[in-house]
Amino acid sequence: MLASPYAPGSSPGYLAGRGRELDDIRNRLARMSALGRSGGPLLAFYGSRGLGKTSLLREAQRDARRAGYLTVWVTGRDDVDMAPDLARSLTEEVRRESFGERAKGLLHKLDKVQVELGVPGAKVGVEMAGPTAALNTAAIESTLEDAGRFARHHDRGGLAVFVDEFQEARLGDRRSLLIALQHFDGAPDGCPVAVVAAGLPSMLGAVPEAATFGERTKFVEVGLLSDVAVAEALRFPAQELGVSWSDDAIFEAVTASHGYPHRAQLIGEGSWEAARPDVGGRIEVGHVRQGLYAADQQMATLFRSRVAKATGPQRRFLAAMADLGDGPVARADLAARLETSTTSISQVRQELIDRGLIEPAGYGELRFTIPGFAGFLRREARRETGQAPPALDAPSPIRSLPQRPGADPGPDSST
Ligand SMILES: Nc1ncnc2c1ncn2[C@@H]1O[C@H](COP(=O)(O)OP(=O)(O)O)[C@@H](O)[C@H]1O
Ligand SMILES: [Mg+2]
Repeated sequence: MLASPYAPGSSPGYLAGRGRELDDIRNRLARMSALGRSGGPLLAFYGSRGLGKTSLLREAQRDARRAGYLTVWVTGRDDVDMAPDLARSLTEEVRRESFGERAKGLLHKLDKVQVELGVPGAKVGVEMAGPTAALNTAAIESTLEDAGRFARHHDRGGLAVFVDEFQEARLGDRRSLLIALQHFDGAPDGCPVAVVAAGLPSMLGAVPEAATFGERTKFVEVGLLSDVAVAEALRFPAQELGVSWSDDAIFEAVTASHGYPHRAQLIGEGSWEAARPDVGGRIEVGHVRQGLYAADQQMATLFRSRVAKATGPQRRFLAAMADLGDGPVARADLAARLETSTTSISQVRQELIDRGLIEPAGYGELRFTIPGFAGFLRREARRETGQAPPALDAPSPIRSLPQRPGADPGPDSST
């Protein structure tokens, strides 16, 4: 049996269905190489976990390297300052690109930032105010500017900065990034730096909170994958290894994935493990049905960890929502079920939106962000009250094939 080419939890072998998003990023970067300007205001991709934001940014980073940009990656964190982290990543990147002696001056500056601001352990958990905060802001801006100009002077288009989990970054760091971008955008001689960010939907608040001109940010929602994209995400990595999927098998897998990329990878992996293919092998619908069982169990693990992190009121809120079904739920119905007013549920509602578990769906309605979460919560509730069909301990029922491409998979086919 060949090793599975699927990647639940890491970057996919083939990034399906994100052509438009990658183009958006390419266009931003092209402002640097073609115009010698900055990449403009922040470009920010948001969506709940598992939709593929990190994968998108990683692919964009590879793409940017191929196109001749210097790139750097940082992950937003609330327990450390960003400036030393940024300097460290840039150092690695500059070394990797082997500029040799030419990079000496830049590396020296980056080193200085790390030494002066990156005292390990000293600032853990505390967000500094006053002089240290000002130093950080200045360091972020000068680090980016120096690296951008360096890149431009050494045959690179400019510097492409990727910030994942933007909403997690300290307020001061978010502000510093936005201020720096504002300066670069307005620099008369142009400063070739572009920043592309990704994060949870709470980023929609985390940007304006950090700077009023954060309004100029271009927000792009990262949504579910189309049926065609899921089919490609499953077929292409297999094809590379000389393994095919039957049409029925793909159809079953696409339907059961609900367009959720993480689930598509789990189904791919589960089906592969069931088929145990060698070169020339084929994944059949029966393998997918077996694979779905494994995928469901993995999804349940993921759901369980989300619930474990929720507070009591958050859990009650989620349980009430799940009771009302899989589709969008009216806030008024939810308030009635929780026997309270719509205003008093608004805080818990916001907390759950910030954590990426639920999202607004049209006026006054809410829905779960991850397909299958509602069904999971209902099963857990039944389990607790003892009226269980313990669905996760028994093999999944045989699923009927949908009638046509794109047919509504029905409310419970992911459970
Ligand atoms: N466009 C895509 N095509 C195929 N698989 C994807 C795609 N985007 C994400 N995935 C898969 O989905 C899972 C979650 O992706 P990730 O980028 O970590 O999501 P996020 O950062 O939004 O939480 C990973 O297993 C990844 O391989
Ligand atoms: Mg991510």
